[in-house]
Amino acid sequence: MRILHDPVARAFFLQGPGSTYAFRVGPAGRLEHLHWGEQVGAQDLGWSVLHCDRAFSPNPDPADRSWSADTLAQECPSAAGCDYRAPMIEVRHGDGSRVLELVYAGHRLVAGKPRLDGLPATYCEADTEAETLVVELCDAPTGLAVELSYTVFAAHDVIARSVRVINRGAAPVTLLRVLSASVDLEGSGLALLQLSGSWARERHVHVTSLRPGLQAVESRRGTSSHQHNPFIALLDTGTGEESGRVWAANLVYSGNFFAGVELDQFMQARLHLGIHPDGFAWELAPGTAFQAPEAILAFSAHGLGALSRTLHRLYRTRLCRGRWRDAERPVLLNNWEATYFNFTPERLLTIARSAKEAGIELFVLDDGWFGKRESDVSGLGDWVVNEAKLPGGLARLAREVEAIGLRFGLWFEPEMVSPDSDLYRAHPDWCLHAPGRTRSQGRNQLVLDVGRAEVREHIRAAVAQVLRAAPISYVKWDMNRHLTEVGSLGLPAHRQGEAAHRFVLGVYEVMERLTAEFPDVLFEGCSGGGGRFDPGILHYMPQVWTSDNSDAVSRLWIQHGTSIAYPLSSMAAHVSAVPNHQVHRTTSFATRAAVAFTGSFGFELDLARQSPEDMAEAKAQVAAYKRLRSLLARGDLYRLADPAGGRLAAWMVVAADGGEALVTAVRIRAEAHDSVPVVRLRGLDPAARYRLDDGNEVGGDALMAVGLRHRFDRDYQARTWHLVRV
Ligand code: GLA
Repeated sequence: MRILHDPVARAFFLQGPGSTYAFRVGPAGRLEHLHWGEQVGAQDLGWSVLHCDRAFSPNPDPADRSWSADTLAQECPSAAGCDYRAPMIEVRHGDGSRVLELVYAGHRLVAGKPRLDGLPATYCEADTEAETLVVELCDAPTGLAVELSYTVFAAHDVIARSVRVINRGAAPVTLLRVLSASVDLEGSGLALLQLSGSWARERHVHVTSLRPGLQAVESRRGTSSHQHNPFIALLDTGTGEESGRVWAANLVYSGNFFAGVELDQFMQARLHLGIHPDGFAWELAPGTAFQAPEAILAFSAHGLGALSRTLHRLYRTRLCRGRWRDAERPVLLNNWEATYFNFTPERLLTIARSAKEAGIELFVLDDGWFGKRESDVSGLGDWVVNEAKLPGGLARLAREVEAIGLRFGLWFEPEMVSPDSDLYRAHPDWCLHAPGRTRSQGRNQLVLDVGRAEVREHIRAAVAQVLRAAPISYVKWDMNRHLTEVGSLGLPAHRQGEAAHRFVLGVYEVMERLTAEFPDVLFEGCSGGGGRFDPGILHYMPQVWTSDNSDAVSRLWIQHGTSIAYPLSSMAAHVSAVPNHQVHRTTSFATRAAVAFTGSFGFELDLARQSPEDMAEAKAQVAAYKRLRSLLARGDLYRLADPAGGRLAAWMVVAADGGEALVTAVRIRAEAHDSVPVVRLRGLDPAARYRLDDGNEVGGDALMAVGLRHRFDRDYQARTWHLVRV
């Protein structure tokens, strides 16, 4: 890993472990992008730049008709100049003008990676792990400065980009658009991959060929959302799991985002992402700075599989934090689908006892334990245990659960308030709203204005008080609606455009403080399932409830798509009852467990009401997971068969040293007199021999070239193979 500066060519070379990212200061002081892709030496790449005179592309210097920002491959395009493509930065000056000419003003190299103020980000544990280049650009007439940061890691083949805008002028400036990264690439033959869907159908993979113009993936919902994920990738023609070039960008942010690719008239693709500019306006007073979130840029010359493994390793080790980052996660049972709101202490303890019998380690009490919360119409905001429902309170229940031999976990939804709650009656102005207008409800609830300090402090104190009063070792942090009428009484009229971003910053601050105050608690993110599954949340919470859809077959698509960017250890996956509560499908216990093994494993059903056979199966599955969980949490994922084909899904997890692997295949739809699918393995040591769980010993080379076969004879049947190097 090295960042090199060639002072003659005025070029910067960011050398990752397997890729190069290069740009230079061009003739007009504009940053020109040179290369992002396969590793090349730090040579003058000036020969690769071809400025041409183009019709309708204006020239700031009439003497040079070949130079126009409109055709340039840029690093930080700004609005209202000669570039008609979508900008990365747009501002409104005091005089109403939006023209911004960002010109190179200097740079510095920093060992390690500076933290981002108030925002989640990847990090280093020692300065030797990474190097950061900070390039300063300046708009001379106003003194507005832009700092572009680029971090290169020794052990991770990514570039972490971020942007800071500093008002060094004398007048306030309104920031209208500050994206976190923008890269202009050769766009011929590229396709866009996005992870999109809906509630209970999150992060399905969609691939579409680029067409001229702008294609965007975005959220205006106030969170990263179920509908889209702040991750996009450009795939070269023919790119698949094992080969081909991929350029990916992932925003470390949990709010409104915009991720776009604009194919211009000359087949250049502008890939850019950041906070969504719609509704965003940030007043930047003289002497202040605005920090935009981090964007992770990753290139793979070896297909999507290698790209995913790069991101997984980075996120697992240098985005997630805290005691649970690398620790094996406990097997849990959550009572939600077992009881919903309808529980008594006796019922909970019966479930907990059966969980203990199955070898489960943590019992999680979900929604319904607090305030007046018999259904989803009331109670949010009143984080005081309902003693009528749970006599003796949480402390007693938690102690009883601990006496059974399980740890105790609890559900919260801290960012919300029910109109029917003591909190709302006391503070009706604490929710996001526009005075005098409708306060739209989602799931009968309003969103607290977490951007306000007094609201944040109230939330923090309320959650902390509960965590202090009982032995709680796990928290499920939910968020069950999206933002509407995003106005804040904490901001003056001309700064209302800051409310949505300040909400996200406020959420991060509360999460930061609570996770720091309770470092031993395992926090799991959730938003109606996987509505906020993004790198921002993973910085505070190392796992997320992947989807409210717990059906094993639906999960094949959801987990496959999620795994494009996010590690298995971050995906909570549970065995639930059949017929499944979301899609009414019946699958075997073995299949449900095989699919849930992919993530941080648990159960979401009343084990006390399962058949003796299923209980025996649950015991066996828990025991197997405990043996395998360090492999599953830290191993490398290889996706072997894409469920999109509709017939077979298959994947494997291989230990980093190739010594052990777990292979899973699920027949999605069986046919009469069916063919026998072949599952060719990946990532093994070709020279080693592996013992399979049926006792056979096979060479790694043969397992990868010839593969494994299984004769499936019904729908939804799963087969797993455990391999150990002999
Ligand atoms: C959301 C979560 C569920 C459950 C309910 C409780 O929908 O995703 O797992 O916690 O809330 O109300």
